[in-house]
Amino acid sequence: MGSPTGRSREFLELKQETLGCRQCKLHETRNSVVFGVGNPNADLMFVGEAPGRDEDLAGEPFVGRSGKLLDRLILQEIGLDRDQIYIANLVKCRPPNNRNPEADEIQSCCGYLKRQIQLISPVAIVTLGNFAVQTLLGTTEGVTKLRGSIFEYEQTKLIPTFHPSYALRAGAKVVAQIRADLVVAKEIIST
Ligand code: URA
Repeated sequence: MGSPTGRSREFLELKQETLGCRQCKLHETRNSVVFGVGNPNADLMFVGEAPGRDEDLAGEPFVGRSGKLLDRLILQEIGLDRDQIYIANLVKCRPPNNRNPEADEIQSCCGYLKRQIQLISPVAIVTLGNFAVQTLLGTTEGVTKLRGSIFEYEQTKLIPTFHPSYALRAGAKVVAQIRADLVVAKEIIST
């Protein structure tokens, strides 16, 4: 196997840089920096909020209950598994007790996500919950209002949907809404 070149080398360098990050206070309490998982050449990328307890311990995004739901919905609606897409979070380290990420933490961290998006250059991004869409689009509008529309982030279509952990709490109606948004994502990456 040859040495990685171009984009894949830059992606590895970005990962190394992110794994050593100490830019915000979350580095003091983390077990892992949860960089992301999947295919760095994927057409479709998912962006969550921040790692929870399971993800902090595993070093991988969305491995807990909400992740299992997410995997199932993506497989059923789009026919893809985690190796065929890319999954990352807005904030790479776990906020203690799963509290919301704070503005200074998002500010310190979102550059890593933006560079990941630039290098992966997906056809479509599905954002999960409020924080990712609000940060990428620079809006304070909530996901309930934003979902149902397709936005542009740089050259990429952005499809906002609910966070799967909200779907676990809220039930079937929200699961159905996420399914509908995934069908839109499938159409975009298929055309
Ligand atoms: N919630 C998120 O937003 N990301 C994860 O990785 C896990 C739960």
